[in-house]
Amino acid sequence: MGFLCSLAFSIQFLLLFSSSLFTNCFTLNDSTTTHHHECHQHESNALLSFKQSFFISKYASYNPFSYPKTLSWNPSTDCCLWDGIECDELTGHVISIDLSSSQLHGSMDPNSTLFSLVHLQSLDLSDNHFNHSQIPARIGDLSQLRHLNVSHFGETTFSGEVPTQISHLSNLLSLDLRSYIVEPLDNLVINHLQLKVSTLKSLIQNSTRLEQLRLNFVTISSSLPHTLTNLTSLQKLSFRQCELYGEFPIGIFSLANLTSLNFARNQNLQGTLPESIGNLTNLAYMALGDNSFHGEIPQSLFRLENLEFLSLPYNLFEGQLALDMFLKLKMLNFLDLSENKLSLFTQNRTVNVTILPPIQRLELSWCNLNGEIPTWIMNLSTLNILNLQHNNLRGEIPSFLFLVENLTVLDLTDNMLEGQIKLDMLSKLQKLTNLGLGGGNKLSFLEGKSTTNVTFPPQIQSLDLGSCNLVHFPNFIQHLQELTDLFIPLNSIKTIPSWIWSKTTLQILEISNNLLIGEISPLICNLQSLIYLDLSANYLVGMIPSCLGSFSQSLQLLWLAENKLTGNIPQTYVKGNALRLIDFSSNKLSGQLPRALVNCRMLEFLDVRHNHFNDSFPFWLGSLPKLKVVSLRDNQFYGAIMCPLKYTFPQLRIIDLSQNGFSTKLTSEIILCFKSMIISNKRQLDFKDRIFSENMLIDIDLTSFSMSNKGVVMNYRGGQYLHHMVAIDLSSNKIYGEIPDIMGSLNSLVVLNLSNNMFTGSIPSSFGKLSNLEVLDLSLNSLSGNIPQQLTGLTFLDFFNVSFNNLSGPIPENGQLSTFDNNSFEGNKDLCGIQLLKKCEDPPKYPLQKPDGDQDSESGSFFELYWMVILIGYGGGLVAGLALGNAFAIDVFRLLQKIF
Ligand SMILES: *[C@@H]1O[C@H](CO)[C@@H](O)[C@H](O)[C@H]1NC(C)=O
Ligand SMILES: *[C@@H]1O[C@H](CO)[C@@H](O)[C@H](O)[C@H]1NC(C)=O
Ligand SMILES: *[C@@H]1O[C@H](CO)[C@@H](O)[C@H](O)[C@H]1NC(C)=O
Ligand SMILES: *[C@@H]1O[C@H](CO)[C@@H](O)[C@H](O)[C@H]1NC(C)=O
Ligand SMILES: *[C@@H]1O[C@H](CO)[C@@H](O)[C@H](O)[C@H]1NC(C)=O
Ligand SMILES: *[C@@H]1O[C@H](CO)[C@@H](O)[C@H](O)[C@H]1NC(C)=O
Ligand SMILES: *[C@@H]1O[C@H](CO)[C@@H](O)[C@H](O)[C@H]1NC(C)=O
Ligand SMILES: *[C@@H]1O[C@H](CO)[C@@H](O)[C@H](O)[C@H]1NC(C)=O
Repeated sequence: MGFLCSLAFSIQFLLLFSSSLFTNCFTLNDSTTTHHHECHQHESNALLSFKQSFFISKYASYNPFSYPKTLSWNPSTDCCLWDGIECDELTGHVISIDLSSSQLHGSMDPNSTLFSLVHLQSLDLSDNHFNHSQIPARIGDLSQLRHLNVSHFGETTFSGEVPTQISHLSNLLSLDLRSYIVEPLDNLVINHLQLKVSTLKSLIQNSTRLEQLRLNFVTISSSLPHTLTNLTSLQKLSFRQCELYGEFPIGIFSLANLTSLNFARNQNLQGTLPESIGNLTNLAYMALGDNSFHGEIPQSLFRLENLEFLSLPYNLFEGQLALDMFLKLKMLNFLDLSENKLSLFTQNRTVNVTILPPIQRLELSWCNLNGEIPTWIMNLSTLNILNLQHNNLRGEIPSFLFLVENLTVLDLTDNMLEGQIKLDMLSKLQKLTNLGLGGGNKLSFLEGKSTTNVTFPPQIQSLDLGSCNLVHFPNFIQHLQELTDLFIPLNSIKTIPSWIWSKTTLQILEISNNLLIGEISPLICNLQSLIYLDLSANYLVGMIPSCLGSFSQSLQLLWLAENKLTGNIPQTYVKGNALRLIDFSSNKLSGQLPRALVNCRMLEFLDVRHNHFNDSFPFWLGSLPKLKVVSLRDNQFYGAIMCPLKYTFPQLRIIDLSQNGFSTKLTSEIILCFKSMIISNKRQLDFKDRIFSENMLIDIDLTSFSMSNKGVVMNYRGGQYLHHMVAIDLSSNKIYGEIPDIMGSLNSLVVLNLSNNMFTGSIPSSFGKLSNLEVLDLSLNSLSGNIPQQLTGLTFLDFFNVSFNNLSGPIPENGQLSTFDNNSFEGNKDLCGIQLLKKCEDPPKYPLQKPDGDQDSESGSFFELYWMVILIGYGGGLVAGLALGNAFAIDVFRLLQKIF
């Protein structure tokens, strides 16, 4: 995506500046032809000393056509003739200063002589470098100002608080404090200016004639004042990324003269689009993305014949809508509806699709778009970017799509498309940089016999041919000189051609779920730019090339899971490496975990599950500052679990040590290894943590856990798993002793599995404080005593199992525990309750099922029950109704041991 971004960036950049260039030329001509009066000496002096307070630096302006206007200011000439200066024809006072893009560099003097020019009506200082100085309070002295523009490019801005005096400018028609930042860079932008909402309110109260109010990237951190709707002359209103929240004043959609509305990226603005939006006949630009707008998109919107830019992604818009309705917007150039709750279908027969708008960019991912790819797309000759990924599109990809000559991005991944794509069909798309055909589609990609005379778009950067029925690695890829991202998972490729190892531009190489055989070539370490390597779920054998740990400073994500790899894992990990994820799970790897892993300071995820590692507890991983997930499940780790001082696991969220040979008493000290699971504030859990996708466009599955009759199995694969997953799994080890009370303080825990160990003592009543708990498995231990009443308050509990312990007394009747059946409680001789066959009868002894019931016969029926359950489990082949931890055979064995 990198190239695309920078291309879009430079184009938009030019667009941003073109208007100010135009004004520059205009004012220049204007002042040379119409001046009648000489400039006043004190104003000339004021301008000269303003000039002298700055350096000239060509890096101070971003506009490629910037030039130092003040260099031509000559004291011996009439200042009214100076570049960027305009005087009043009658009085000779300076009324306009346009020093936009003038390469000025320096701090703004709070007492600048500029503020003596009290006749100023227009001041434009945009696109200069003011060294993060403050906007001077004396700006309020310029009471005649109608236009004030101090917009800037992010890093060259003014900083700090916008002075309250700005609200004294009661004649203002336009105020522009924006950063010039365009997508997708803007998610990296830090706001430098702050505006108190009280200042904004005063401004609204005083400057009632405002036509343009543009505050993008100015932190306001408040709800929007409803008085904004009093400013009936407003035409342009932009508040992108201002940290606004709360209700969006619906009256804004009644400001009849609006042409441009931008409130994108405020995240918590809530509102709806009213039917009356159809009255905004001048509206050309509307961006409300990344907020919490909801409700339907009103039909009246399709009356907005001047609408060119409509961007509503990442909201909660809902309802059914025909896509071709948007074709009624005759000027539409940009449409983005991605990731809402919309259900789009392709055709509304009432729309006349013979006249098409000049659409360049169509972003409709995750829109539940049903139907076939509509034929009218064929006639959108201006189309540049078509993103239809993750919808329900069916049928074949129509051949006309491959004739839209200006297409740069064609993303159809994750649909239900079928049919054959032949390489030569793509030869018309000579501008294509991104092609996505993979995901859930059922396409077949055919390379054809000879590739010599087929010219595949040579500047392809990103290619996704996942699940395209490939049996060979496509040869044409060799000729793609600019390829950075290659996704070909879910095919039937057996071998990787050796030329791939010389494609050093590659940043992403994803060949998982193929039939790859043989060893991993050590030449893989030639790919120095790799950020993401995924060879998992293949039949690779041999050792992992030892260079893989340390061959590059760029590799972040390394997936080699589910192969047949053997031997030790790479031992060397150089300092300063970028590894964030290592997944070696489900191989036949052995030996110890290399201590050099402590050099992976960026590591967040380490999964070595289902291997033959033989080592003591790697407490030393506790020094990694970002480590969030550790899974050692199903290996031969042994000994005590501990974390000496300094090894504190400061970010740990998931630790899975199950099915090993850990043999230790669970002490309070061990629990303190997990103290990162204590949160003081529930909001800490709610943050959207997209660790692996923050600067890469990679979709990674959510971590989830599946609960089956066999217990809880966690599935995690990096990515957004952290949303709220916090888990400890110590099941199937030899851990003994009492469960420390302090475990109840790990209050962010969602999954706690201690089953199939040797715990004794009682269930801590402090577990009642684990208010986020969804899974609690304590089965197959030797716990005794009552089930604490406190557990009834665990309202999120979905899975609960205390079977096969020595618990006694009544099962607490109210609350969540009453929703679990006997599988959760069986195998506890003295436990009673409606879930079990054994009712708790208070004063009288229970009316016996067997009239001659005594201790013996009771335990007799208990045995019967066990065997019944076990037989169901084996005989039915579906392990039904049995809650037995993880490895069934082991558990049955232990169970039998326990019984006899
Ligand atoms: C600004 O300038 C005026 C007169 O030149 C002076 O009296 C005043 O103290 C100055 N203020 C600051 C903050 O420098
Ligand atoms: C409105 O502007 C005047 C000066 O023009 C100023 O004295 C007054 O405080 C301003 N009102 C508010 C509410 O800011
Ligand atoms: C502005 O709006 C508020 C409430 O929305 C109203 O009370 C006030 O009278 C309005 N002011 C003007 C000048 O219209
Ligand atoms: C809206 O624009 C029209 C045409 O430019 C103008 O005549 C009218 O005064 C404006 N309305 C307001 C409330 O400023
Ligand atoms: C605005 O739109 C609504 C609903 O579409 C309509 O009832 C109303 O008359 C319109 N108002 C004006 C001023 O056009
Ligand atoms: C189809 O178009 C008609 C007429 O424009 C409109 O009334 C109807 O709501 C549209 N249906 C959908 C689902 O967009
Ligand atoms: C669609 O528009 C074209 C061009 O204006 C016109 O000739 C045609 O009759 C229209 N078709 C319908 C069904 O309205
Ligand atoms: C494709 O882009 C080129 C260059 O921007 C332009 O001249 C040409 O008109 C475009 N083609 C179509 C069909 O719009």
